[in-house]
Amino acid sequence: MVRIAVLVSGGGTNLEALFRAQESGIIRSGRIELVIADRPAYALERAQSHGCMSMLISRRELGMKAFAEHLAAALEENRIDMVVLAGFLSILPEEAIERYEGRMINIHPSLIPSFCGKGFYGLRVHEAALERGVKVTGATVHLVNGIADGGRILMQKAVSVKPGDTPETLQRRVMEEAEWEILPLCTEMIASAIGGSDENR
Ligand code: GRF
Repeated sequence: MVRIAVLVSGGGTNLEALFRAQESGIIRSGRIELVIADRPAYALERAQSHGCMSMLISRRELGMKAFAEHLAAALEENRIDMVVLAGFLSILPEEAIERYEGRMINIHPSLIPSFCGKGFYGLRVHEAALERGVKVTGATVHLVNGIADGGRILMQKAVSVKPGDTPETLQRRVMEEAEWEILPLCTEMIASAIGGSDENR
């Protein structure tokens, strides 16, 4: 069974979708063993209510170097095989990205390559989409490499922009209709690929 860690920074609605997918059997090749927040986040309460080990590793209090060291140690000590970034807002240290090459995925709330890269996160993504006047947006799950939102795209799902949409209503629709569906599917896809390759070892 692939041991999965989920990294969070916010409300944890994507984390909640992952727990639901685990309970319903959509995620079956791996198990969420650990939730790590880089700041106080409601997502930690969600982890606790699902009986999942969770920890706060405060980037602000520790500073980047100690944060990176604590994060690497937590992943190592818990024998984590795969990492899911679910609304995670900190820059990951190079060594963590290298250690989990092909085993770390991220959800981005737009159809990459639109509205992504430096400075595009959270509501800003949807503000930019509305400002540009796109009629369709959506979400993307991609492998994580050293470039912000730059790794190989695994899955995307399109969502219509509706007249009168605000950044908030658009964000909610993208979450409900796209993020919460494709992140669990990609988590299972990568976990089963890892599980298969580990079995062959
Ligand atoms: C949301 O903007 C979502 O689109 C992005 O991260 C933010 C927080 O999501 N992926 P969550 O509720 O913490 O999962």
